[in-house]
Amino acid sequence: MFKRAVLIRKALRGGGSPVAGQSDPGPSGLPLLGNLPEFARDPLAFFSRLRDEHGDWVPWSLGPKPCLLISRPADVNELLAGIETSFSQAELGWAVHHLLGDGVVTSTGEDWRRKRSLVQAGVRPRQVRSYAKTMVDCADDVAATWRDGQCVEVHREMTRLTQRIAVRTLFGVETAGREEAIARAMAVAQQELGAELRGVTAFFPPWILTPGRRRLRTAVVGLDAEIHRIIAEHRAATAAGEEREDLLSRLLDARDVDGTPLSDREVRDEAVTLYVGSHETSATTLTWTWHLLSGSPQARTRLDAELAEVLEGRLPTFDDYARLPFTQALIKESLRLYPPFWALGAVAREGATISGRHVPASTTVWASQWSIHRDSRLFPEPDAFRPQRWDSGAPNPVPEHAWFPFGGGPRTCLGTRFALVELALTLATLAQRWRLDTGPGEVRPVAGLNLQPSRPISATVRSA
Ligand code: HEM
Repeated sequence: MFKRAVLIRKALRGGGSPVAGQSDPGPSGLPLLGNLPEFARDPLAFFSRLRDEHGDWVPWSLGPKPCLLISRPADVNELLAGIETSFSQAELGWAVHHLLGDGVVTSTGEDWRRKRSLVQAGVRPRQVRSYAKTMVDCADDVAATWRDGQCVEVHREMTRLTQRIAVRTLFGVETAGREEAIARAMAVAQQELGAELRGVTAFFPPWILTPGRRRLRTAVVGLDAEIHRIIAEHRAATAAGEEREDLLSRLLDARDVDGTPLSDREVRDEAVTLYVGSHETSATTLTWTWHLLSGSPQARTRLDAELAEVLEGRLPTFDDYARLPFTQALIKESLRLYPPFWALGAVAREGATISGRHVPASTTVWASQWSIHRDSRLFPEPDAFRPQRWDSGAPNPVPEHAWFPFGGGPRTCLGTRFALVELALTLATLAQRWRLDTGPGEVRPVAGLNLQPSRPISATVRSA
């Protein structure tokens, strides 16, 4: 989420001229500003308009910075596959580095490759299986706090749930008493990070300490103290022969090819990266899913039937994940309509090409999940919530690479499996007991750090 926000910020201040020599010259823009005003006003509508009016390969400019929007799934696949070779990730700013340190998201080149393979060990399918019970227990705890007729703010409830899952799967149940302290420090840090990315302070050099940066520093000091204490406890427990299943233990066990373990600082950076990367995306997805379900009695009936048949009133286990295809379809359709990451971008290196076409160096190439997921050539009735489009054997199967909420290529989301299992099992657990009636009234998606609802979504809790 951070890379994209930083990319937007950097794009707004970059330099250069629009990509030249392509068939469609792209939209006209203002002198100096280019297409910046329209993009800044509503990037979702802007990307859809570019695609509809100018095609699948559209040069445009953000201020004086050259950009290119690509909308053919095959081209997007080529772009994502070329990151770290023909294309570069955008540079990240002070606030992101201060919170995440040198974790897998913030590193590049050889350093990134090494960290990615070390972190990967903790999110392999076998590991995700071991986290499934924690995911379900956390959802069951939340379900136990709701009452028939109660009014809840859906995103707040889903954040409570996914934060709890992140802390427990990362740091282990033994630290459950400290959940609140970690979640509080993280919440302050993320709030300040978001404010920095959206505001002018992002342009300030690192030595200018704004009040927001001071608050971020204080939150990170508190957070680090807690995490280093937990790391020390884990090391002591492992030395005493105790076996632990949490992600932190996997990071502590991870070894380079030459047998070198991660240092405490490196373990801390990856743990914070995983925490930040994992819970907000999942909370937002669950929020949109409840809203979509509330507006579709047909889908709700099918979900109830699947849960009753497969679970027969008991809590789901990891093995049930594969037996809940409609629950999975709901999540996929929700991620199609409301992808938390609404666009990805990368900067062309010298000699970069896509589908054999030259992309001038320094051009920022954008691919928008938002506009591609709602392209009528790829998804019939693209704005309709139709989870049945994911049924096996459905007419018009989803074309390859047209659905990419988790990105793709070498930097694809490391938590894809974790997220899909978490989303399906927590939805199944909560929906078995409750339905959330979000009532009438339009909720628009707004392109922020994630694709957020335009207003808080309140819901009345009803017994299922
Ligand atoms: C609905 C949930 C999620 C969505 C939609 C999502 C989406 C993404 C996307 C699009 C990227 C690529 C970002 C870029 O190139 O700028 C990414 C990267 C990443 N995600 Fe996720 N993610 C989700 C959940 C998770 C979870 C649960 C975890 C961890 C358990 C996680 C860990 C990561 C990490 C570590 C990276 C960086 C990979 C790298 O740079 O090599 N994500 N995610």
